[in-house]
Amino acid sequence: MDKLIIQGGVPLHGEVIISGAKNAALPILLASILVDEPIVFHNVPHLRDINTTLNLLSILGCEAKFDERYLPPVPGRTVAAPAEHPGSGGVVRTQPCRLSHEAPYDLVKTMRASVLCLGPLLARLGKAKVALPGGCAIGARPVNLHLSALEKMGAEFELDEGYIYGKCPNGLKGAHINFDFPTVGGTENLLMAATLAAGETILENAAREPEVVDLAKFLIACGADISGHGSSIIKIKGVPRLKGTSYSIMPDRIEAGTFMIAAAITDGELLIKNCPIQDMEAVVLKLMDMGVKFEPKPDGILVSRDSHGLRGTEIKTQPHPGFPTDMQAQIMALMCTANGPSLVEESIFENRFMHVLELVRMGADIRLSGHTALVKGSSCLKGAPVMASDLRASASLVLAGLAAGGQTEIQRIYHLDRGYERMEEKLIPVGARIKRVKE
Ligand code: EPZ
Repeated sequence: MDKLIIQGGVPLHGEVIISGAKNAALPILLASILVDEPIVFHNVPHLRDINTTLNLLSILGCEAKFDERYLPPVPGRTVAAPAEHPGSGGVVRTQPCRLSHEAPYDLVKTMRASVLCLGPLLARLGKAKVALPGGCAIGARPVNLHLSALEKMGAEFELDEGYIYGKCPNGLKGAHINFDFPTVGGTENLLMAATLAAGETILENAAREPEVVDLAKFLIACGADISGHGSSIIKIKGVPRLKGTSYSIMPDRIEAGTFMIAAAITDGELLIKNCPIQDMEAVVLKLMDMGVKFEPKPDGILVSRDSHGLRGTEIKTQPHPGFPTDMQAQIMALMCTANGPSLVEESIFENRFMHVLELVRMGADIRLSGHTALVKGSSCLKGAPVMASDLRASASLVLAGLAAGGQTEIQRIYHLDRGYERMEEKLIPVGARIKRVKE
């Protein structure tokens, strides 16, 4: 297992290019199950979870792979991307062929988002056998809202031996669905299933995340009839079939927010390029509250501290457009170094404070009480050996390591590689003293 070694305390200066969004690419790639024609995806990030998704698609009978000509430059590979390559990121081509309906456990256990193939398989094949995704470090992560909503569309489910057996012998029918919670994955599964269902489906209390909007835009590009995406009421009129298209994945707002904090926590200045700032209002406002400065430039957003130094703030994670839970661990690292206390309430997941004890090992003063963390601030973080536990916790530890005096060693960074494309390769050119070491 790889680890990262960071010599902290260096202000970062330069520019970073934000990659395609993992949480948009995963559902969009799985939506290709709905389409019986080839599709070309652009700006696909090179991540572990993306590779897992491509493997799952191939197992399901939808051949999907990166176009080798666009892989990131690595020592020894001299193939240059063709001139017509739009933007950054990878290119994935899918070739549909005979679909299988089974998503095996050994794949689903490595990536919970595999459950997003459930809706498309039911819509295309009328049946699905998908391993029930287990929990993960941050919570139980049930899928009850997905299943109950699909049942309203005519699907029948049995849970047996860790698998979800689904069928809809008479096909999916449009339904009026009201989610108890604006579940991102539930909204995405139902959005995909409804595109080929008979009649109209209405999703109330739907998730409004930008990644849901990107999925809807992709489906519309394939010929789906969708309206209201981005609001809490989405309407989908089923169509007989969807057609092939080419589509570019939106930039990753969570990666962008992480690098914004990298600039602020090291008291540096970074030009963030390909930054989806329009999807980041809650994050930007809270960072401004803490003393982070944002200057729009022709080719990106210039991020640094303002002249008053970093202050504490209060956040409560919420469904979009509220403060995203996926930025909670990262902003907490910044709060540790701010002058004055901060309060963090995690309202989405039941166990998303795994980074706290590791930050405390680095000298942070954080008190936990249920779903709330009181961050004392004004800590001079010191490098230490720490352990990554989940994707965003590992990002938080990288940020703390960049600010800390001395050496930080972060183990189990396979968690980081799930959601950040070659993070250390983006940090080194802007001055970070960071290296990946194979254990
Ligand atoms: C998506 O997870 C993201 N993952 C998560 O990002 C993100 O944290 C989350 O949305 C919230 O924004 C992907 O998009 C691949 P939910 P998802 O369904 O779809 C409960 C990251 O770091 N719930 O909105 O699983 C659930 O337990 C990852 O990139 C039910 O109870 O999120 C949780 O407490 C982590 N029953 C809450 O709702 C259900 O059927 C939010 O879950 C579904 C969800």
